Amino acid sequence: MPEVPRIVVLTGAGVSQESGLATFRDLGGIWSQVRLEEVATPEAFAADPARVHAFYSARRAQLIEPGVQPNAAHRALARLDAAWPADFLLVTQNVDDLHERAGSTRMVQMHGALNRVRCTACGAVTPWREQLDMRTPCPSCSRTTLRPDIVWFGEMPMQMGRIAEALAGCTLFVSIGTSGQVHPAAGFVAEVRDHAHTVELNLEQSAGSMLFDEVAQGPATKSVPAFVDRLLATL
Ligand code: OAD
Repeated sequence: MPEVPRIVVLTGAGVSQESGLATFRDLGGIWSQVRLEEVATPEAFAADPARVHAFYSARRAQLIEPGVQPNAAHRALARLDAAWPADFLLVTQNVDDLHERAGSTRMVQMHGALNRVRCTACGAVTPWREQLDMRTPCPSCSRTTLRPDIVWFGEMPMQMGRIAEALAGCTLFVSIGTSGQVHPAAGFVAEVRDHAHTVELNLEQSAGSMLFDEVAQGPATKSVPAFVDRLLATL
């Protein structure tokens, strides 16, 4: 019997688009409404923390809107995680909580999470569902030094050691709903190509499509459950 593949799945904003959360670079996407230099860098936070807090507080509030729920793609990936008998890691660039709510557990949020805050003074990381502003005290040290627990441009993504290990050991790499424009995630496919079969599931052609062995275009709620069903049928 052939060896069961060791899987890394990378997801981006496209996987949450059908749950009602905007992507970044599509028409009408987040970066067409606000300049990333003004809200998603350490320099922006130093210059105008109120603006940065307002941007992330609005996105955090979206997560508790009744219409924002995990979709069939999130659920299929949770099903794969639960059933897959070999190494599996879901690496998401998304800061929403939809993979978690769908039930994924072997998962890394490499760009951080909207539902956590981090204290820049004491380092405490705290679950957070509320608005956040410059007057909010840290639940651990009471200082007003909280920031979103989000990776900004120019900062190191989270858990890169665990991700590097999974990439080095994987034999199947699947990229879903990401435009392939932000590094280091955009470089993962090139890192694994010599030892893994690579698959891209995206609405349209991405910047890196030509690097994949297999490419399928379409909405994630259709392509991901179909792909997961095919994979589970090989067990
Ligand atoms: P992008 O907005 O750059 O790309 C989203 C991709 O999803 C595009 O290629 C779309 O074609 C595709 N897409 C849209 N709707 C889809 C659907 N229903 N089904 C499948 N695919 C769909 O978002 P990301 O690649 O995730 O980082 O962006 C990467 C990072 O850039 C984000 O994590 C964020 C952003 O700046 C930080 O803020 C640090």
